[in-house]
Amino acid sequence: MSQISPHGGVLVNRIASGEQREALLTEAQGLKAISINTWTISDLDLIGVGAFSPLTGFMNEADYHSVVTNMRLANGTVWSIPITLAVEEARAAEFSVGERAALVGEDGTIYAIIAIDSIYKADHKVEAVHVFKTDDLEHPGVQKLFERSSIQFGGEITVLNRPQPEKFQDFYFDPAETRRIFAEKGWKTVVGFQTRNPVHRAHEYIQKTAMEIVDALFLNPLVGETKSDDVPANVRMKSYLALLENYYPKDRVFLGVFPAAMRYAGPREAIFHALVRKNYGCSHFIVGRDHAGVGDYYGTYEAQDLLKTIPAEDLGITPLYFEHSFFCKVCGNMATSKTCPHDKEHHLTLSGTKVRALLRDGICPPPEFSRPEVAQILIEGMSEQPVG
Ligand code: ADX
Repeated sequence: MSQISPHGGVLVNRIASGEQREALLTEAQGLKAISINTWTISDLDLIGVGAFSPLTGFMNEADYHSVVTNMRLANGTVWSIPITLAVEEARAAEFSVGERAALVGEDGTIYAIIAIDSIYKADHKVEAVHVFKTDDLEHPGVQKLFERSSIQFGGEITVLNRPQPEKFQDFYFDPAETRRIFAEKGWKTVVGFQTRNPVHRAHEYIQKTAMEIVDALFLNPLVGETKSDDVPANVRMKSYLALLENYYPKDRVFLGVFPAAMRYAGPREAIFHALVRKNYGCSHFIVGRDHAGVGDYYGTYEAQDLLKTIPAEDLGITPLYFEHSFFCKVCGNMATSKTCPHDKEHHLTLSGTKVRALLRDGICPPPEFSRPEVAQILIEGMSEQPVG
């Protein structure tokens, strides 16, 4: 069995190098600039390295509308989240279709050139209702959306400079690298795991259950922008390393970060997360309870239900669905309602708020909820920087 194909068939590479890069940098200095924030820089880089294959740039009007309403690009390829370049209205008025522009960070770094092939207005309300299933401004993803300009530029990009991680540089791998590494290790089936949280026993249980049927686990925590009460990525990274060191077989796990922003789009984001992990070379992808959810906006299994509506051949990657898992005191092990016959009162479940309160007081949650090594790192992380 050969490695899974990237989404759309070809792993996109829009990173310039060598003489081409030098020439484009010279050209960029003469182009009008569009300023971009860290979120857009991360999208740009992920397009550049092919993590968002088959996208080769920011979405044009046809793709944008098609993705918002149909969860497919204009050519029919499944894609669930708009990847767009918002431009302030006053600045946008200075550009026209056919023009090339420099995409410049707040520090003056020229990150890329875009060949503008579409200038259009997004309807944020329509987008919010389709993508987030709500236009409630309390929803963190909706809030972000409404903060943006509604004028968007579409067009192919070429990356000239890449964002440089401040920490954990050793855990940044482009899809071409993870694909090469998985192949070198002889892994034919790899299950991808998305997380924006520390890995607690419930996560560990579903990962290891999946590991029983595939060659390896790609632990791929999202480390881009998250909401302020999520545990910061640097604390999480320390906790992942401690967990892997103590509880996982070294030769069957690979840790690499996913430097994307979290959208909190629940079901739509689950599809997006699966497609991206396919590009990284995963054959399988874990979707548990309330994947990429926030608050009570999505049903517990709504992400799974939406994924199930996509024909297997259009998705390519195989989702592995897990029910809500917990420690059962009577069974004496981790379980789900599929494997445990006991009443809820015997199940150890702690809310995020409760766990945060314990950690803030320097108290480790029970080992049936979180490994002590992980809890200790979270307690230390809490005292270094307030998290919620
Ligand atoms: S997410 O926003 O990145 O999805 P989180 O890091 O909590 O949040 O979840 C990572 C993955 O583990 C998701 O697929 C989620 O559905 C799953 N998951 C989290 N907690 C549980 C649980 N108790 N039981 C089953 N699946 C879970």
